[in-house]
Amino acid sequence: MDAALGRVGASSDPFAAIVCSTRMPVVITNPREADNPIAFVNDAFCNLTGYSREESIGRNCRFLQGPETEPAKVALMRAAARSGKPLDLEVRNYRKDGTPFWNRLHMVPLHDASGDLIYFFASQLDVTGELDRLQFLERHNADLLTEKDARHQADAANAEKSRFLAVASHDIRQPLQSLVLLQGILARTIQGDPAERLVLRLGQTLESMSSMLNSLLDLNQVEAGAVRTNITEFSINDILDRLKDGFVYDAQAKGVLLRVVPCSLFVKSDRRLLEQMIRNLLANAIKYSPEGKVLVGCRRNGTALSLEVWDTGIGIPENAVETIFREYHQLDTQEGRSTRGLGLGLSIVHRFGNLLGHRIRVRSEVGKGSVFAIELLQAADSAPSASPVVRQFKGRGSPPLAEASSILLIEDDLETGEILQNLLGDEGYRVVLAHNGLEALELIEVEGMRPDIFVTDSKHETSRSGPEIATRLQGHLSAEIPVIILSGDASTHAAHGTGSQNAVRLTKPVKLRELTAAIQRSLSVSRSSRAASAPPKKGTDLSLNEATIFVIDDNRDVIDAMGSVIESAGGVVQAYASSEAFCAVYRPGRNSCLLLDAYLPGMSGLALLQKLREDGDVVPVIMITGASDVAMAVQAMKAGASDFIEKPVGGSDLIASLRNALTHMHSSEDLADRREKAASLVADLTVRQREIMAMVLAGHPSKNIAVDLGISQRTVENHRASIMRKTNTKSLPALARLALAANWDEQYVT
Ligand SMILES: Cc1cc2nc3c(=O)[nH]c(=O)nc-3n(C[C@H](O)[C@H](O)[C@H](O)COP(=O)(O)O)c2cc1C
Repeated sequence: MDAALGRVGASSDPFAAIVCSTRMPVVITNPREADNPIAFVNDAFCNLTGYSREESIGRNCRFLQGPETEPAKVALMRAAARSGKPLDLEVRNYRKDGTPFWNRLHMVPLHDASGDLIYFFASQLDVTGELDRLQFLERHNADLLTEKDARHQADAANAEKSRFLAVASHDIRQPLQSLVLLQGILARTIQGDPAERLVLRLGQTLESMSSMLNSLLDLNQVEAGAVRTNITEFSINDILDRLKDGFVYDAQAKGVLLRVVPCSLFVKSDRRLLEQMIRNLLANAIKYSPEGKVLVGCRRNGTALSLEVWDTGIGIPENAVETIFREYHQLDTQEGRSTRGLGLGLSIVHRFGNLLGHRIRVRSEVGKGSVFAIELLQAADSAPSASPVVRQFKGRGSPPLAEASSILLIEDDLETGEILQNLLGDEGYRVVLAHNGLEALELIEVEGMRPDIFVTDSKHETSRSGPEIATRLQGHLSAEIPVIILSGDASTHAAHGTGSQNAVRLTKPVKLRELTAAIQRSLSVSRSSRAASAPPKKGTDLSLNEATIFVIDDNRDVIDAMGSVIESAGGVVQAYASSEAFCAVYRPGRNSCLLLDAYLPGMSGLALLQKLREDGDVVPVIMITGASDVAMAVQAMKAGASDFIEKPVGGSDLIASLRNALTHMHSSEDLADRREKAASLVADLTVRQREIMAMVLAGHPSKNIAVDLGISQRTVENHRASIMRKTNTKSLPALARLALAANWDEQYVT
């Protein structure tokens, strides 16, 4: 056999020929000789290992092993060789030139007819590529698993951090709320330096503490992916007004002149997040302006609107512009160091901007100042008018609402509850304190308390009994009762979670000034709405909050009076002294209404109304006419006025009329309904009554009608009384309104 093996290459045996010529490396060893030497190798083995046949034959196969050959595998091969057992494994081997390769070894013992082991047959396959790929995949897999594990851990840590922050924020806000209120009391009581100065500093410290807390929470929410955007269309003025009120004291205290240019355009964004963005920019502008001016205004650019905050502050060095939006970054300046903060303001602006798709632009020059711009989208049919107006209104003429108003305060924190009760009491309110929702319910159900306003800690909204109490309170209290929620959680979840339409949410800690302003505003809106003759439709907005009211009247006193009433009901007033001044800047938009004097010099109110309708503008117009000027009123209604009111204008009539016009503006269903009812009332009148009604509405006095119809004046007056009774109208304007709604025409007069 050994001799045969030596001759195998020349053999005519087909099996031997296959072994020789196959591309599979093959080795045959002789276990009957010492150390099991190689007796045969084929060409493929020589090609794989680089060793010639002469260099291989007579040696044990271990010469293929090297430094990385696994000892455990060598042991397996030894055991197999000794015991004459087959074996399959992958082992690290080396070629003659020293390059390593993975050898997939297949060892089989060969026995003779009597069962004695005579040879070992083996094939070696180079599987380096395959194993390298496998090893790579295994490593990659392991990396992925580690990464996944790390991500899991990070997510868990993040969730834990968010939970901690939410809980901590509520718990920190509570004592902070008490401190803010106590500081307010101190500021009022203490007089003279240095006490006043110290109390002021205490106030500033508390303010920076609350703003840091809010920043941390905002950032936490963004990082946790918990910020849900709520995109609506609203007037940018809503935000600007509030911010102006909020920052005016800070600016004054720093000697900075703050100017907020009003803008009645509507934008599409998330109201709360956008307000926070502008708030942060404004706070920075004031913080980094040792003196000088800060200006906030809007610039229109096609469908876009650039809201810009300008300051004449210290400016930002060119190399720092990139980094200012990073977390915890503060300009290394005297201002940055002296004012406490976390350097999160701009990072929040940046992150909210990304969330909302609002680009932020910065221009700055050291020593001259900076401009930060937020690029917004205008609402589809925004009403533009950033042009000059006769005057803007702000909170004048509000009646002393504190007087005799009663507040039901629900606060479970004893200290905060008592401080608030005392402070609001000092402001002139009658405050009843309930320590929880059930106590409040008892006050209402058992003791019959009917508060004018309801101030509550937000916990009662979310506690187990919260919804039940809320439902029961709603059942007992008028739906119009305003609610102020003092929230200990600034999270966006909480902000969106407010169920009630009439609820105002303030985040703790709230300053007494802010709270009383919110109470006054809510009370004022609620009173106007109660005073309004027409009860508003269920589910409609009770205030004029979203509406721009253009007042066009040449009488300053009328403008002043109406402006105050509208503002106190939450409307935004833009006043013009003439039709021409109005036309120069007006463009059609949404959620606006005109209060138009019928008798303006130059283009009259009626002419302006006709022009608007000719231009296809359906903006609601309420015509202001002289007393008993029914003819003009009818003419105005025919020209497309929504309503008319007579001078002198009463506050509640005005708000009712505005609400009616704004609410019914787009509701064709309502209009059809009103028309149908009016037509059936008119149809119920007798022919004579309709005849007299036509003459009354044409402006004829009863005496003339009597003469024209050849009846007594008394009979005419009797007819007039029955007309009013049958049509259920209490005044001539109301009758005219009804006639117009019924499509009144001379056809009724036969
Ligand atoms: C037929 C046969 C083929 C073998 N082929 C290889 C081989 O390709 N590579 C290798 O590392 N060892 C191979 N071996 C194993 C070694 O020859 C030897 O048995 C092993 O190193 C264990 O013995 P040792 O501990 O005395 O070195 C083979 C063994 C036999 C019987």
